[in-house]
Amino acid sequence: MRARKGGEPIVCLTAYTTPTARLMDGEVDLILVGDSLGMVIYGMSSTVGVTLDMMIAHGQAVMRGSTRACVVVDLPFGAYEESPAQAFRSAARVMAETGCAAVKLEGGVEMAETIRFLTRRGVPVLGHVGLTPQSINALGGYGVRGRSEAEAEGIMADAVAVAEAGAFGIVIEKTMEELSGEITRRVPIPTIGIGASVTCDGQILVTDDVVGMFPDFRPKFVKRYAMLGDAYAEAVRGYAADVRARRFPGPDQVFSATAGRK
Ligand code: KIV
Repeated sequence: MRARKGGEPIVCLTAYTTPTARLMDGEVDLILVGDSLGMVIYGMSSTVGVTLDMMIAHGQAVMRGSTRACVVVDLPFGAYEESPAQAFRSAARVMAETGCAAVKLEGGVEMAETIRFLTRRGVPVLGHVGLTPQSINALGGYGVRGRSEAEAEGIMADAVAVAEAGAFGIVIEKTMEELSGEITRRVPIPTIGIGASVTCDGQILVTDDVVGMFPDFRPKFVKRYAMLGDAYAEAVRGYAADVRARRFPGPDQVFSATAGRK
């Protein structure tokens, strides 16, 4: 992945299940089993309640559906911040129990020692700076990051620290475009943007946003390529109407001595 710096953009998406991993494997370079699954799959209000066991279960599901993409699994809130040793224990469980290629963790300067500890012990790490959703209770909101000079300097320092600590790449989330571009030029490892800049070395989005699973949720940085949420609801309505009208099952969906063998 490091060798992709400055080359053809790295294509990344999230997946949490075997079928979705199968659908995107071969189309994307990197699949992230993101802790966004807390909101997308479990209906939580933030990622803070996601557990290590949840990440491992979904990491295993994604690995069953993926043979080609680089699969990265998020370390959830509370599983790595306490100490480098705690982070290693969590990362080792994730890697051993899922077979994934790497873990992702959020944070900059304050997590550099942990990233160094992990990478020196055989755990490839994808960093994550800018908006770091696991810190939502401290940040106070999901607003764009790096608007003020002081905040921008802090995010640049975070990215440089994460790169120097040995991460193989950095996700830059919801961060001013100019700053994201500057970080991309400054650090020697690939940057993966989400609400960042087209100049990043790669892009990632939550797949459910890309395919339009949530018609009412549309952040500015998301581009929708389908409206599966509407199609899903339409299919459910059609099925319900058919069952109520006794149109389903029809002759093609039953096993009947008079209808021939199928
Ligand atoms: O959890 C997640 O899906 C993420 C991406 C949005 C970068 O961290």
